[in-house]
Amino acid sequence: MSRTPAEIVAQCQNLPTIPAIALEVLRLSREENIDLKEIAGVIARDVALSGRILSVVNSAYYGLPRKVSTIGQAVVMLGMASVKTLALGFSLADTITSRGTAAGDLTSFWRRSLHMAVAARTFAARKIPILREEAFTAGLLADVGVMAMHDAFKRDYADLCAAPGCSHAGIVAVERERFGVDHQQLSLAMTEAWHLPELLTLPIGHHHDSETVGGADAMLTSLADVLRVATLCADVFCTEAQGDQIKAFETAAEACLGLDSESCRSLVVNLHADIQEVAKVLDIQIPESLSYAQIVQQANQELTRLNLQAQQRMHEAERSQREASERLEVLEESNRQLAQKANTDPLTGVYNRRFMEGFLEREIARAARFRRPLSVLFIDVDHFKQINDSHGHLVGDAILRQLAKLLGAATRDVDCLCRYGGEEFMLTLLETELWGATQLAEKIRRLVAAWKFKSDGQETPYHVTVSIGVAAMNPNRPVDKELLIQMADESAYAAKRDGRNCVCALRKRVSPLPETETPAASSASAGDARRR
Ligand SMILES: [Fe+2]
Repeated sequence: MSRTPAEIVAQCQNLPTIPAIALEVLRLSREENIDLKEIAGVIARDVALSGRILSVVNSAYYGLPRKVSTIGQAVVMLGMASVKTLALGFSLADTITSRGTAAGDLTSFWRRSLHMAVAARTFAARKIPILREEAFTAGLLADVGVMAMHDAFKRDYADLCAAPGCSHAGIVAVERERFGVDHQQLSLAMTEAWHLPELLTLPIGHHHDSETVGGADAMLTSLADVLRVATLCADVFCTEAQGDQIKAFETAAEACLGLDSESCRSLVVNLHADIQEVAKVLDIQIPESLSYAQIVQQANQELTRLNLQAQQRMHEAERSQREASERLEVLEESNRQLAQKANTDPLTGVYNRRFMEGFLEREIARAARFRRPLSVLFIDVDHFKQINDSHGHLVGDAILRQLAKLLGAATRDVDCLCRYGGEEFMLTLLETELWGATQLAEKIRRLVAAWKFKSDGQETPYHVTVSIGVAAMNPNRPVDKELLIQMADESAYAAKRDGRNCVCALRKRVSPLPETETPAASSASAGDARRR
């Protein structure tokens, strides 16, 4: 079963206690008929305490018009609340300081507590002047629960406070999650144990979340709001992430106290100096703070630096993105060229057999699905072996390159021309029936037969003829790729057998007619009747 805040505080061994004189002053100040002489008498019993109060009362911080020499005069001049606050402050400073560092970092504790106390008094003087001294006391004690957290949870709590990014503003939620209790609750339990009035204990117990303080007492809720704003103000002076803290503080000052940014800044303009004055009065050593204006300026500079840094990072990211895109484009182009190379015949620049087979397979499937015609021409150079034997392979290669260009010029973009192998070319014609394919085959045959092929650096032309086999797929009776190629190949063989330089479709000669005069064959001999 988890312990209550009061039980946790009761089991702590190193917490400060309120000295008897301070408690007596508090008790007397709560009585209806306050006897100022009696209070002055109680304080005067502690000579050291009286001397410190008088030195404070006569300091520049209070700015009294004439010197005060007795506690009685101080009570009359400053009022009961101020003297009570001083007595309590001195007593606590002594007792907390005497506890050493066993319950956390005392310098940090005092730095934050004094900022809260002075800020709370400043805001209360503007909003609830009657409670300005109570605000100072509440601010001074608000974080006393931090000492109890250190005492109760020791190393675990110290590690939490020392963790990177840990700020007082965000620690309450983490405390509840890790330990089931937060320092506000322990501050409340401690101040209740000291029998401080509810007017102080409840705002202390809700100094991070004044909206939860509840109750109908307007003074009490107003003091809780003052304390909350003072807490956020202390965050500005005591933490490093000042840009966020400034925004949180000024937003809360407007929401809780109705102070716009300008009013808020004018109220805290001398806060850093007042805090040092109070620290000196209470004989507490804390590091000097920058003024609020300097902190705001520093935060703005930091914001500018961060903005520049963010812009620089953005530019670097854009440059990296641009470079990556350029590299990708180079890679894509390289891949495209590789793919082109893999699909292209290096001698003639037309597609190779590997690419044609994939193309034909896809187009046969498409034609079969949509019931569309498709034809294939098998084009074979006549007597090519003799050309190579008589004139050399360089001439043979030049003739193949020129023939590929001629065929390419006679081919539509949608069709596919490939070098099937050696001196054989294959042309796949989409959306073309047997008749149309045969017409084109004859056109090609005539074109080739009339063309004057040339080899590099030679003027003498070479005359070449081709035998062309035509095959077509009936849209209603699809065939596979191999059968279609075989049909075209067999038709080309029929053309060879039938005298070459002619076109055969479905193994029968269709052009030119046998009786038609055959164009002059190649410059090579036509003696070889065998195919290739
Ligand atoms: Fe706090």
